[in-house]
Amino acid sequence: MRKDTTNGSSRRDFMQHSGGIALAAALAGYIGESAVATGRTAPSDRVANLVDEMTLEEKVGQMTQMAASEIQSENPAEALRKYKPGSLMYLPSFDPKEVARESNVRQKAMVEDTRLGVPFVYGIDSVHGNNNIQGATIFPHNHGVGAAWDADAAEEMASITSRTMRVTGTHWNFSPVADLQRDPRWGRFYEGFSEDPYLASQLVAAKVRGYEERTNGYKRTGASVKHFAGYSEPANGNDRTSALLPYRTFASTFLPPYAAGITAGAETVMVNSGSLNGVPAHASKELLIDILRDQLGFEGMVVSDWHDFFRMIKVHGFAEDLKEATRLGINAGIDMYMVPAASIEGDDAEGYQRRLIELVDEGSVSMERIDEAVTNILAFKENVGLFDDPYAEPEKVEGVVSEGRDLAREVATESMTMLTNDGTLPLGSDTGSVLVTGPSADSVANQMGGWSLGWQGVGDIEPPATTVLDGISEAAPGSTSVTHVPTGLHELSNEDDVRAAAECADVVVAVLGEGPYAEEQGDTDTLALPDAQRRLVETVAETGTPTVGVIMAGRPRGTSVFDHLSASLMAYLPGTAAGPAVAATLFGDANPSGRLPFTWPKGTGQLLNLHNNFPPDEFNEEGNTEPPQSHETPLFPFGHGMSYTEFEYGNLEVRPPKLPQKAATDELTVSVSVHNTGDRAGETVVPVYGTREHGEVLYPQQVVVGFERVSLDAGETTRVDIRSTVLPLATVLGDVFSRGELVVDTGEYQLSVGDMTETLTVV
Ligand code: BGC
Repeated sequence: MRKDTTNGSSRRDFMQHSGGIALAAALAGYIGESAVATGRTAPSDRVANLVDEMTLEEKVGQMTQMAASEIQSENPAEALRKYKPGSLMYLPSFDPKEVARESNVRQKAMVEDTRLGVPFVYGIDSVHGNNNIQGATIFPHNHGVGAAWDADAAEEMASITSRTMRVTGTHWNFSPVADLQRDPRWGRFYEGFSEDPYLASQLVAAKVRGYEERTNGYKRTGASVKHFAGYSEPANGNDRTSALLPYRTFASTFLPPYAAGITAGAETVMVNSGSLNGVPAHASKELLIDILRDQLGFEGMVVSDWHDFFRMIKVHGFAEDLKEATRLGINAGIDMYMVPAASIEGDDAEGYQRRLIELVDEGSVSMERIDEAVTNILAFKENVGLFDDPYAEPEKVEGVVSEGRDLAREVATESMTMLTNDGTLPLGSDTGSVLVTGPSADSVANQMGGWSLGWQGVGDIEPPATTVLDGISEAAPGSTSVTHVPTGLHELSNEDDVRAAAECADVVVAVLGEGPYAEEQGDTDTLALPDAQRRLVETVAETGTPTVGVIMAGRPRGTSVFDHLSASLMAYLPGTAAGPAVAATLFGDANPSGRLPFTWPKGTGQLLNLHNNFPPDEFNEEGNTEPPQSHETPLFPFGHGMSYTEFEYGNLEVRPPKLPQKAATDELTVSVSVHNTGDRAGETVVPVYGTREHGEVLYPQQVVVGFERVSLDAGETTRVDIRSTVLPLATVLGDVFSRGELVVDTGEYQLSVGDMTETLTVV
């Protein structure tokens, strides 16, 4: 048995020592709030009375999340009475009406045929739209949302998602991902928004606001900010392997997006499945109590990730058995355990409940801890209106599930990031013929990615999507002929056909990238495209026909291939509206305005080359200028993204230019003139970057401290006021192992837009 190392009094000591709320306040400032405001101070009488009335078995039931498939809809009451689950997860069908009906059958039995009639809260991963049901609009995955730099759109997508969830009887979204995208080898890269904490924080908060929009006096669905904390940088790039993060980096870089979601009101937090600095997150009181509760002020409900008590044994080699893992996890602050559907070596609902009851009977888990967990769970249910409104609305399903089609197209279009262009794009109206080829040109599965009507992506049932081939065929002018030669992701058996077709075409559009994947099944050791796709590009390019590459991938995939392309577009995983978004961009009906929310390395050998690394990025003895080797320069830097017009910046101003240190959480305004000097209208994202030279510790070479999306006609100039903050340059001062507070140190900071820089002085 492991000894518990943290008790109540050391927690308080830790808070006093570290400044407690200061961290929360500092991080809340990221999203323009002055303090963490989850607004739950005391449980309501209803919640408190229920907790009083419950037996231990009923409480442990609340602390159990089970797959809905384990509760047969023919006779749900028996299993519901047996397990008394606080939550169900996963859908029994892709058909939205059936989902709604099945949810109601189970909920009715829960409410009417169990002793206390406490409704279950139904959770699913609707991570880019309600990606679990047929007919729903599926939005771009989050790395594409990051490329759009549009928090309003993120909020609106989340709001639509929550509407489709609620009518189908689900109330809890395991989203948004607040993990930073730092390592593209990791199979979950596309699930996060950005490598930059400020950009990610804005989008995490926006999604939480959208999911938790109030309707009829309660939150339509609850969000789950995941995976707390520090999940996304496993040392070897493989999912759920060990991560090592110095506290300075953890506090200043990794924590802000989680804190932003919590500040925005997130009802729940899901725990990181990995280990951090030698301790599984699921067993870490430091993470789940000291940091999450005491410092960030989170008052909601904490859910484990799937099967993670078991992982403490088999993956991390930490706990000896499931009982020990359960004790460690529940005592570390996990309120609800996400139990796998089928028993895996005893990890099932029955076993978990038995073990937890034994632990309470033996005194290894206190009744206070159980009551605290159940209070958090019931308060969550109350906040999402389950006691008053537990049922799905099958009759409304049809009108609601198809919402968001226009928005999906708009966001996918905003995300399109033009990486290179020798003038081939936009395609002119005089283009006689276009050859569309490549493995993702006509593949709904590839444009959706994982978590799309299936964990590993689209299977037999397809969402209502438009492929790039269809999009180009629809958008092409009447005088342009479109031909298609399909090729494989990993094989090129029709090289001669492709060559012949390319020779006859005026331009080739090769849609390249990856097939769908999720979690560890998407880990990779290479960022180069598969050989077959590189050969495809080389074959086509050799014909001399200009070739445009469109990359649809969950990460910066593609290295040497760009040498052979006349122009290239990163399309991310654009979802159902891939076709119109890509086609509008290629033909110039839309002017590309996406910017990379991550650094695009030349290959895995460069990792981790992040825009917010500490200096130097490149080293040479002469003084760090003009390095002899350019191996550290990425293929495309963070924020890269070209347009069909040109934008110029002028007259940068930072207001106020001086800030007292105690007001470091206050908002700043960065004003800049933006001039569209080209002959086309266009949108552009104006990022404001910050850094600091010569501080007590090193500062990131560059971080985002504000941004704004603007739209300008040809020749138009506008003045943009950008809400900004110096908080992304807060750091932990002190020597290499410092565990001090997060502070904005006094001194000079440099804020830049384009090549203009102004100084902000913190006094
Ligand atoms: C993932 C979570 C997800 C959960 C439920 C886990 O494998 O890590 O992100 O929410 O499954 O589907």
